Amino acid sequence: MHLSLKNILVETEGHLQTITINRPSKLNALNQATIEELSTCIQAAENDPKVKVIIMTGAGKKAFVAGADISEFSNFSIEQGKALSQKGHHELFNLIDKLSKPVIAAVNGFALGGGLELALSAHVRVFAENALVGLPETSLGIIPGYGGTQRLAQIAGKGRAMHMILSAEMIDAAKALDYGITTSVVPQEDLAEAAIKMANKIMRNAPSALSKAIQCINASYAHKIDGFDYEINTFGSCFNTPEFKEGTMAFLEKRKANF
Ligand code: COA
Repeated sequence: MHLSLKNILVETEGHLQTITINRPSKLNALNQATIEELSTCIQAAENDPKVKVIIMTGAGKKAFVAGADISEFSNFSIEQGKALSQKGHHELFNLIDKLSKPVIAAVNGFALGGGLELALSAHVRVFAENALVGLPETSLGIIPGYGGTQRLAQIAGKGRAMHMILSAEMIDAAKALDYGITTSVVPQEDLAEAAIKMANKIMRNAPSALSKAIQCINASYAHKIDGFDYEINTFGSCFNTPEFKEGTMAFLEKRKANF
């Protein structure tokens, strides 16, 4: 991949790609250039057979992402606001959510507004103990516009989404764990290792099954799709994959599957 990137760092080791949002002086706030770079890299990772899992994190010790870059939209009109949200949904947040490869958000420090929305679009979230997260948009006179009103309600429940969005309050890692916004909390110095450990666990499993599982879980939130029917058909489609043959043979031969 030959890309000139200013706002993110991309490292690939084996089958694991780590994408670091790298604007620490602005607490990694998501400006348009960063969103475009993230979109390009994630699309490239989707098409790269070497990449099996992606970790997203933020540079520095203070923030994952402190939100969309407020300085970029302070003078926007209705049309510009709508276009900003639409572009973000299509080019980045939905792209991540629907990716065929698992994405892990490793959240260090602040994940606010678009930052929490970015983490919510990932498939798995690992938080450092210093994580502080929230959707404070109503304090700026706007609402979450990168999927936060939908994904927070899906992940944490409607009541908690109402509480967090209407109060604009930040919550700490322990409360986020209690709300199901993250599934693990580790000391800050162990965050990278914890995310890699999770990635390695996932990478032991069949890539095609991972991709189908993501699609099926997402189907329960899609409109006009019966998730149960979707699961039945997708389950059936597993049975002509080489990975199914390898997984079941490995079990019967009492060895580890080699996907
Ligand atoms: N957009 C643009 N710039 C941002 C930003 C954002 N969402 N969040 C932080 N920054 C910038 C600050 O403007 C500051 O830049 P400067 O040094 O050029 O003035 C720099 O990042 C450091 O932030 P600062 O506010 O000085 O750090 P802090 O430790 O005092 O406060 C926060 C940290 C996260 C509480 C505070 O930065 C904040 O409230 N950010 C906005 C959060 C938000 O509302 N996000 C949702 C946006 S829709």
